[in-house]
Amino acid sequence: MTVHFIGAGPGAPDLLTLRGRDLIAASPVCLYAGSLVPEAILGHCPPDARVVNTAAMDLDDIMVEITAAHAKGLDVVRLHSGDLSVWSAMGEQLRRLKAEGIPFTVTPGVPSFSAAAAALGAELTLPGIAQSVVLTRTPGRASTMPPGETLTNFAATGATLAIHLSIGNLDQVIEDLSPAYGADCPVAVVYRASWPDQRIIHATLGTLKSAMDGSISRTALILVGHVIGAERFDESCLYAADYDRRYRPQTADSPWASWSHGDD
Ligand SMILES: C[S@@+](CC[C@H](N)C(=O)[O-])C[C@H]1O[C@@H](n2cnc3c(N)ncnc32)[C@H](O)[C@@H]1O
Repeated sequence: MTVHFIGAGPGAPDLLTLRGRDLIAASPVCLYAGSLVPEAILGHCPPDARVVNTAAMDLDDIMVEITAAHAKGLDVVRLHSGDLSVWSAMGEQLRRLKAEGIPFTVTPGVPSFSAAAAALGAELTLPGIAQSVVLTRTPGRASTMPPGETLTNFAATGATLAIHLSIGNLDQVIEDLSPAYGADCPVAVVYRASWPDQRIIHATLGTLKSAMDGSISRTALILVGHVIGAERFDESCLYAADYDRRYRPQTADSPWASWSHGDD
């Protein structure tokens, strides 16, 4: 018996890995975080599967489901939205499973920041503008932030920011980021990226407050940075015609000229 944690993706049912789909189809028990995991993904469960929405359950209740399946030797799939590496609450479940000696696997999913960037048709790391993306959030009712992880600290880097779980904290986002990024810095709010009702709001830090009409109160990402909508940026060396590189040596005496794939 194994508990398979699966990143169920940002919303569109076909943004699920093949591995995730196959594990869902092969497991007689499915526990899913109902607030964000699309119902359509549950269609991959076997017809007689036990399918449980954990949205209203606490960690102990979830462990009761898992240990019951464990006692019967039944595999479990545990679905969380997006990818499991960020804000999935997988860590605390894995700690319990390790303590109980219950085996598990982890299958990654498409994170919401990728889906939001795709919705914008944007690369978040453009040469000469930003080469880092910070996945972060602001404090919430149930979550404080470690002292060093402030928006002002991240702003000092100039990186592209993907701010999660913060659509209710727009004032703080604007106040903390404007000094470093400038009021004209582009912002995109992507609501329910990849869902049929996806919406995108383009603004700047200076216009963001007035661009929002109050209708978006959850499941939105705030992307901030000068990469958004940028047209003027350097081309990468990777595809530059004269760039000497492993796969495209430019001269006979290039250090890469005698390299073969077997050396890698
Ligand atoms: C609990 S976190 C889950 C993050 C998830 N594990 C991931 O990989 O993106 C929920 C937050 O992720 C963001 N989010 C999740 N799905 C989204 C989507 N489809 N579109 C925009 N933002 C989304 C929102 O900021 C939301 O408040």
